[in-house]
Amino acid sequence: MTFLFHSDVHRGAIFREAFARNLPDLPFSMDPGTVDPESVRYLITWTVPENLQRYSNLEVLFSIGAGVDQFRIADVPAHVKVVRMVEEGIVRMMQEYVTLAVLSLHRDLPAYLDQQRAGLWQALAPVQAPERRVSVLGLGMLGQAVLKRLKSFGFQLSGWSRSPHAIEGVTCHAGSDGLTDMLSKTDILICLLPLTAETRGLLDADLFGRLPRGAGLVHTGRGPQLNHEDLISALDSGQLSGAVVDVTDPEPLPSGHALWSHPRILLTPHVASVTQPHSAAKAVIDNIKRLRAGLDPTGLVDRHRGY
Ligand code: NAP
Ligand code: GLV
Repeated sequence: MTFLFHSDVHRGAIFREAFARNLPDLPFSMDPGTVDPESVRYLITWTVPENLQRYSNLEVLFSIGAGVDQFRIADVPAHVKVVRMVEEGIVRMMQEYVTLAVLSLHRDLPAYLDQQRAGLWQALAPVQAPERRVSVLGLGMLGQAVLKRLKSFGFQLSGWSRSPHAIEGVTCHAGSDGLTDMLSKTDILICLLPLTAETRGLLDADLFGRLPRGAGLVHTGRGPQLNHEDLISALDSGQLSGAVVDVTDPEPLPSGHALWSHPRILLTPHVASVTQPHSAAKAVIDNIKRLRAGLDPTGLVDRHRGY
């Protein structure tokens, strides 16, 4: 029975050390070339290796990231549990990034950058935080964590999910009517949805048109959720006033693409949040202990929902 780490050696070395300390009875390998494939019970990876079927005794496929859309789950044998990464490092980094992005839009940074390029020294009328309506698409691990952090600024907070939620200090919406209602009362919209058939292409002209004129967008979900052309049109027409975009389709964004140079877009290369190896190793070890105790792992993916 082996744990196979199929990712970068830097993080692998940290996992190896943590496994040796906490699960000394579980052989650990970072080398698919030498491991006996039939011994592999647990595999952690970002993308599913082409030859997954050679691991005929695989029980659990762990994603090294919070998302699992990069796996073609339909191709993973039905008996294999798929588990996303639930660890405090990802959460903390996403809280930092979204706070940075929301405050940038709240304090008109895209407009001030325009003015700086034009050599224009001119104050814009500031909106106070209690008048600013900030909404999150997705009320999972990350959506709830960023709302918790944003609460301290005094914004009016809302969130949207598939199933109904109740979160203190947050107006919660669900379903398609809930989305329309929330969008009409949103000044800054944050996307923290997993990529599924339902969320692909959701951030398009129709959705932007349901926001009040001049709203801002923070996109930290997945690239294929955003229609790039519709974003640019919405920014050019003034329907949106600014966007912070961390994820694109494709990644890396091709050189010369309009998103690179749009004056109202702050663009980062999918760095909002990155799995932190010490806390991630602890989370995976805890999950193996849960599995050994006959419990479901934290972050078990519902194959039917796709997240
Ligand atoms: P999660 O805990 O699984 O939460 C997903 C949330 O989205 C849930 O609240 C779910 O609703 C909601 N949702 C899913 N499909 C929906 C739909 N069709 N309509 C409405 N709501 C829907 O996921 P997470 O850990 O918060 O992560 C979210 C995503 O963030 C990841 O999948 C990944 O794509 C992205 N991410 C990006 C970065 C980055 O660096 N840019 C880093 C990490 C993660 P219910 O609560 O009703 O189930
Ligand atoms: C990064 O995008 C992740 O899914 O962890």
